[in-house]
Amino acid sequence: MHNAKISNNAKVVIILPTYNEVDSIEPLITALQTIFEQEKRYVFSILVVDDNSPDGTAKKVHSLKRKFHNITLLAGEKKGLGAAYVRGMHYAIDHMQAAILFEMDADLSHPPKLIPQFLRKIEEGADLVIGSRYIQGGSIPADWAWNRKLYSIVGNLIIRFGLMIPRIHEWSSGFRAIRSSVFISVSAGLEQYAGYTFQAAFLHRVMQHGFTVAEVPLNFIDRKYGTSKFIAYEYIPGVLRYVLYNSSFIRFCIVGFTGFLINTIGLEAFYRMGLSPGIAASIGAEFAITSNFFFNNFWTFSYKRIRQKKSLMKKFFHFNTVAIGAVVIQGLVVGIGTSFFGDETRLIFLVLAVIVFIVPYSYFMYNRFIWKQSEG
Ligand code: GDD
Ligand code: MN
Repeated sequence: MHNAKISNNAKVVIILPTYNEVDSIEPLITALQTIFEQEKRYVFSILVVDDNSPDGTAKKVHSLKRKFHNITLLAGEKKGLGAAYVRGMHYAIDHMQAAILFEMDADLSHPPKLIPQFLRKIEEGADLVIGSRYIQGGSIPADWAWNRKLYSIVGNLIIRFGLMIPRIHEWSSGFRAIRSSVFISVSAGLEQYAGYTFQAAFLHRVMQHGFTVAEVPLNFIDRKYGTSKFIAYEYIPGVLRYVLYNSSFIRFCIVGFTGFLINTIGLEAFYRMGLSPGIAASIGAEFAITSNFFFNNFWTFSYKRIRQKKSLMKKFFHFNTVAIGAVVIQGLVVGIGTSFFGDETRLIFLVLAVIVFIVPYSYFMYNRFIWKQSEG
């Protein structure tokens, strides 16, 4: 964990990505200055990451720079929201000595008055704080178009449960505070998430590194000026692809299925080699357990891979113990089930045992006892 104490006069950089926000940027920056004056412990700066907005946002920022001396403008080509954030965060750390970074929409959807709450969470030890619309006290705009609500709610559920990290309620929010050290730890390769998928991918990496993440309620206000750049037909496939390729739960299921195939093939092969069916099944099972262990270590849980030879041996032994637990569960479910409904229902109870009991049981045990969170 990186939750080191924050020093006095720590630099806080509010990163505002802008694309055609000419009417929002002035009221936002003015409101931010009021908040900065209340938080005397920190030194605040604003970094506007503008992608050469044709509406003259940059010109507006230049005029504001004469009035307020804590504004930096970083201009560039339009490559998407994620690309703008990656560029801005590197710049804030390398050239502005940022200790804490803020992500914030520039269209007045994110109330600046929440900034102190984010900072209190960081001071309490959080590494990243999310402004969350999906926790008690948070909300999405009541008058949002139904399709916008649908993308937001369903998108969040897909990420949250696809990645099997239910304790984080909001994955797409663009209002966040992040310790700079956290961004440095996870930044490699983040450039590939150039669009809105960046938010989920970034947060997922932070979770995988075992950092401390907190949420504060956010009442998201619909924009009054300009238009949204959110494109649903890019976002939805992007999110689905991300979850599919990066979910340790989905990988775990795929590995489990290959284990089942190896078990079956093993049984057949050793039986045909002349071994008794019971022995052949046991050898097949141990082959499957072994391959499951190594595939999970190298693929499913690669971000918390067991590397040392000695702990690899120990964990392999524990893994076998967990597998025995699965054997016992299967025996009990099929045994009890068939005693009530007859032997012909044995396959139904096998499938039931696997889906209802063994999959959750194994996934939980692997995460809790075999591949524990790496010490961030
Ligand atoms: N520099 C730059 N480049 N800024 C961009 C780009 C880009 O390609 N695309 C969007 N922005 C800026 C906008 O100008 C705005 O300040 C902020 O990013 C958010 O963009 P909006 O277009 O207002 O997005 P939204 O309000 O529809 O999307 C909301 O939901 C997303 C997913 O749920 C925001 O809260 C996002 O932060 C969030 O990721
Ligand atoms: Mn917006």
